[in-house]
Amino acid sequence: MELTRDEEGILDGREGETRRRMMELLVGLGKVFGASRLIPIASAQVSGASYKTIGRWGLEWLESLDGKVTVPTILNPVGMDRERWREAGIPPEFAENQEKVLDVYRRLGVRLECTCTPYEILPTRFGQHLAWAESSAVAYANSVIGARTNREGGPGALAAAIIGKTPCYGLHLDRGRGPSLVIRVEGFSTGKTRPDHYGALGFLAGKLAGNRIPYFRGIRPLPDDLKAMGAAMAATGAVALFHVEGVTPEAGRWQPETGPLEVHTIGSAEVGDLLKGMEVEAVAMGCPHCSAAELAEIARLLRGKRARKPLFVFTSRWVLERNRPLLEAIEASGARVYADTCMVVSPMMDAYSSVMVDSGKAFAYVPSMCGAMARIGTREECIREATGTPGEA
Ligand code: F3S
Repeated sequence: MELTRDEEGILDGREGETRRRMMELLVGLGKVFGASRLIPIASAQVSGASYKTIGRWGLEWLESLDGKVTVPTILNPVGMDRERWREAGIPPEFAENQEKVLDVYRRLGVRLECTCTPYEILPTRFGQHLAWAESSAVAYANSVIGARTNREGGPGALAAAIIGKTPCYGLHLDRGRGPSLVIRVEGFSTGKTRPDHYGALGFLAGKLAGNRIPYFRGIRPLPDDLKAMGAAMAATGAVALFHVEGVTPEAGRWQPETGPLEVHTIGSAEVGDLLKGMEVEAVAMGCPHCSAAELAEIARLLRGKRARKPLFVFTSRWVLERNRPLLEAIEASGARVYADTCMVVSPMMDAYSSVMVDSGKAFAYVPSMCGAMARIGTREECIREATGTPGEA
């Protein structure tokens, strides 16, 4: 791997021990993945933020670092709402450790928006190189925006944030961004009994795609649908980029019918089968974090209703602070809207043995991360389950 003189100097420790370690990490990653050089990045997004997932060892590793990030860097959701953790039932000992994690990131200069939707906050443009770690944000950046990021691990993203560069391989290169299978979707958006569920579609598609790049035909998703789809595919597979014919910005560059690609079909009936389920103890929405439009839809669906089961909605503090009336409208039903955290990375959901979600990613992770059975439904079905009233279609 070719390094500039400045980069060699950092590797020799001329700019301190933390920068030396971070450069060593990036060079090591670059060698493993065959990168020829490092490239500057526009921003970073760092995972490994919830004390639930990193624990004591992760905290000790973070505490061993000093220095500062050199590009705009946003933290992933942590294990609790930083303002309302007591009412959410978070144990004080957990909160204390979570605060220590936050203190380290603050000291390193990381912005504490604590969200998996950094693209709501960081201006992110087509063709920019990034080092983002949260898998759903990576899928969104690559697929919906046309920016370029590999699916970084937490330490790799933090190293890139501190150095301001990342190894150039994989999705940073044109040749790494072509589709490797085609998924034809049948029965979506053609007049149906239930709304299209893009999270459930992503759940199924991720299993087909694994770590490959799928090219979709037969769907017309909106940006929040693409967000849900990408998050689910990143969970049941390791999809970091997907194309949707006529929708996503790079889809037009590829002509998958000319290549020897596998073709799969997913029908709306298969998606519908996934949505059948049992009664649950609690309902959680907002994976990935709700956009303002999604909060508005939830507020509309809840108007005049009361939550009879615990109903949680997760969003970023950035979105929440700009949409206080929506928070109030949702909470008027008895639901709770929390920021900074989510149903998967917080210990909140550990109190329930069954949880209904509207997200393909949460459906994949709630059983292993929260020890609860999971059911997936549309947003309307989630509201109906929580309120016990007929939902609006
Ligand atoms: Fe975000 Fe948590 Fe889902 S980090 S993508 S809301 S699992």
